[in-house]
Amino acid sequence: MTGLKKVKTAVFISGRGSNLNNLIKFSKTKKSPIIIDLVISDKKAFGLKYADQYKIKKKIISFKSIKIAEKKCLIILKKRNIELICLAGFMRILSKNFIKKFKGIIINIHPSYLPKYKGLNTSLRALKNNEKFSGCTVHYVSSKLDSGKVILQKKVRITKNETEISLDRKIIKEEHKLYPAAISKILY
Ligand code: GAR
Repeated sequence: MTGLKKVKTAVFISGRGSNLNNLIKFSKTKKSPIIIDLVISDKKAFGLKYADQYKIKKKIISFKSIKIAEKKCLIILKKRNIELICLAGFMRILSKNFIKKFKGIIINIHPSYLPKYKGLNTSLRALKNNEKFSGCTVHYVSSKLDSGKVILQKKVRITKNETEISLDRKIIKEEHKLYPAAISKILY
């Protein structure tokens, strides 16, 4: 990144929003290449409280009709000149058409060491398969689920007596380091 202009970013969420909160905090640091301008959620998610807390514009868009939802998203993204979308626990799959029409970059964070464990319940499935490690991955978004090019990933060791809760807790901690690092990696 050159000069002082920070990349205008939208964060898409569906739930708790701990990554959103973490990205907002990161965006407030001097070294951050992004400014968070918009939060989009497909429902009344808990994480929207962080948008309120930091006075960031928020928009709830129902995804009952994906076509209409994506159209609405594209309009607001364009209006606000958004250049980067960070998916952060956004539990919808964006269409090929949306990805093509949005002229900026779209990235996602996923709670597994991809290409292992795409989709949901990643920690539970890793535990059931007696894996030695899981992890998290930040990747570019393509129209295939959890399959775009990897930007950064981090392994997390699975210990004896590990539970889904304890593993999720370890992974989310790593996610909070990995997402800002991946953003810096692609924008600087
Ligand atoms: C995170 O673990 C994120 O990796 C995962 O949802 C959680 C959201 O937590 N995303 C996916 O599973 C996407 N396929 P948060 O709402 O506290 O950021």
